[in-house]
Amino acid sequence: MRKLSWNVRRVRLRKRLMIFGALCALFPLASSIALPARPVPATTSKPIDELVRLVRQDCGSCHGLTLKGGLGKPLLPENLAGRDADTLAQIILDGIPGTPMPPWRGILAENDALWIARKLKEGFPDAAP
Ligand code: HEC
Repeated sequence: MRKLSWNVRRVRLRKRLMIFGALCALFPLASSIALPARPVPATTSKPIDELVRLVRQDCGSCHGLTLKGGLGKPLLPENLAGRDADTLAQIILDGIPGTPMPPWRGILAENDALWIARKLKEGFPDAAP
């Protein structure tokens, strides 16, 4: 086999390093796509006490004041354990077409819906802390 000149080897090494660098840069991006679970949003668009009141009163009118269910399904942690918070937040924002579950987009921002979804999974507070 012909010995490669040092220059050719250097170019190849640099190419490999570039590919390695690109993969390193892509990895966190890829893992953030694969694991979309986000923590409870630190900020919400509406004050927390307003969100708590809205869920207890407005959501409660269908899901029951204690969220044990009524016209709407129960929204207690044991009922929502199998659903991830992002999916629940989408349901809250978009509603469930063909059912009485209305969309809340416009009333609730995405971070409000995600906060509510997370708190429903944890056990929704009775009143604002
Ligand atoms: C007008 C009545 C009504 C109101 C108000 C309402 N919902 Fe619903 N909701 C429903 C019904 C009915 C379903 C079940 C639809 C189906 O799958 O058949 C539902 C389903 C859901 C689900 C999916 C539950 C699951 O296990 O699939 C979530 C989450 C939810 N509602 C959250 C909320 C939240 C949060 C609010 C307040 C912001 C709210 N809902 C307000 C009627 C309502």
